[in-house]
Amino acid sequence: MRVSRGVEWGEMRGMQKVETVEQMPDEYRETLLKIIYALASTEFASVEQHQPWINQGPTAEDRFIQAQIAADEAHQGFIDSRLLRSFGPEGTAMADQLLELRMGEHPIDAFNVPFESWVDVVGFCFCMDLVAWYHLHAMLNCSYAPLAREMTSMVHEEKFHASFGARRARDLSLEKEYQNVAKAGRAEIQAAVNKWYPHALDTFGKTGSKFANLSVSYGIRKWNNEDLRAKYKEDIDEKISAIGLDVPSEDRNRKIS
Ligand SMILES: [Fe+2]
Ligand SMILES: [Fe+2]
Repeated sequence: MRVSRGVEWGEMRGMQKVETVEQMPDEYRETLLKIIYALASTEFASVEQHQPWINQGPTAEDRFIQAQIAADEAHQGFIDSRLLRSFGPEGTAMADQLLELRMGEHPIDAFNVPFESWVDVVGFCFCMDLVAWYHLHAMLNCSYAPLAREMTSMVHEEKFHASFGARRARDLSLEKEYQNVAKAGRAEIQAAVNKWYPHALDTFGKTGSKFANLSVSYGIRKWNNEDLRAKYKEDIDEKISAIGLDVPSEDRNRKIS
């Protein structure tokens, strides 16, 4: 995955990518800082969600992969924090604050929701890590070069988390052998999908957000909130149906649209 030298979309298209915070116009700086803060907040929060389930999965592979996911999120959190700190005292304060926040205090709602069972862990990876993948995918080759470089590896980590979730969701729905070791099946994974699906759609943010539209015109994100949500929805709906589960209604339990 190559990072080009130039800005690839938006109003700055064709200009050289931004390399340092000093080069940024105020509005660009504010927009980027908000995006990196939001991203960083999800990493540490999801480590906290995963932590009680480390070493609890039904198979050795589950236990290994889930620990790897938690480690990836922590590592991503430190990468995002380093980016935040490069913004000077304001970014440093934000990074420090993120290390203090605990469940219930995280800025994005879905990350304040505990995992209640192993199947719930699977439902989260299936629905929410795919959200993470879409968010990172939207910033591949973005106009801020240091962020674009980090995206090249992070995007694959999220793909790994989401595909693990998708595989185990399928096994819970369809595979007798895994259902036996997990002591759960289709009803349980359907309930987990029902739980995380509205959170997943909410996590894309408000339709018509000025901030999201600015991030597109500054070449930071390739799609605004509603376009990215629509792409995700088409993808996850197909994945849910393909493993014999029902797609929850779009409006159920939604808080942000
Ligand atoms: Fe992540
Ligand atoms: Fe992830």
